[in-house]
Amino acid sequence: MDVKIVSSQEEGAQIALKIFQDQLAKNNASVFGLATGSSPIAFYEAAVNSDIDFTKATSINLDEYVGLDGNNDQSYIYFMKSNLFDKKPFKVNYLPNGMAKDLAAETKRYDQIIDDNPIDLQILGIGRNGHIGFNEPGTPFDITTHVVDLTPSTIEANARFFENKDAVPRQAISMGIGSIMKSKKIILFAYGESKAQAIKDTIEGSVTTHVPASVLQNHNDVTVIIDQAAASLLKNK
Ligand code: GLP
Repeated sequence: MDVKIVSSQEEGAQIALKIFQDQLAKNNASVFGLATGSSPIAFYEAAVNSDIDFTKATSINLDEYVGLDGNNDQSYIYFMKSNLFDKKPFKVNYLPNGMAKDLAAETKRYDQIIDDNPIDLQILGIGRNGHIGFNEPGTPFDITTHVVDLTPSTIEANARFFENKDAVPRQAISMGIGSIMKSKKIILFAYGESKAQAIKDTIEGSVTTHVPASVLQNHNDVTVIIDQAAASLLKNK
């Protein structure tokens, strides 16, 4: 893994922007896997303020809460529109449909989208427990799109965005680790002390389903962009 320790999220955003620009220079119809959460926000801001052109590109998001529609400001479709898509149009944006009546059919539909549009470059954040997308600890590494029961730790961490803990959805649809690992390139962002243990386990720990992001050690093109606080527990800096 190529670990870049940056002094600000803006600096991290510029590193990622350059990787995106290089990818688009190779193929303006590239497929980008995108993530929500606070970690990629500085990157989306930098993209919006740049002259990057996504109009021929495709995006495929990692996940969506079950039961929230696009009018709900906590849905990931709402997040992506307000942070990126409304300001930087793509040819097409795919997200799981959290309102699907038949969730099993929705996971199959999403797998087909990923198969039809192999991801060139995937962005990831990381949960405090090492989750990626909504692939919680214990999730098999070869899994494809699936419905997830969120762990108490993730519900707790995400409660800050909702009125209270009870308002946090209990389930989500997530791209699987198997699909994430098929992406040709991956960028993982992590900022702040609350991510330090997960980052240490991901980079220096053993590869284990207890820390879903540790699987990234098996991928040959991962850039990890972290600040000093998230890097604070690393032995080798
Ligand atoms: C959520 C998302 C993840 C994200 C994680 C961390 O659980 N499903 O994709 O990486 O939160 O979020 P943040 O970047 O806000 O710390």
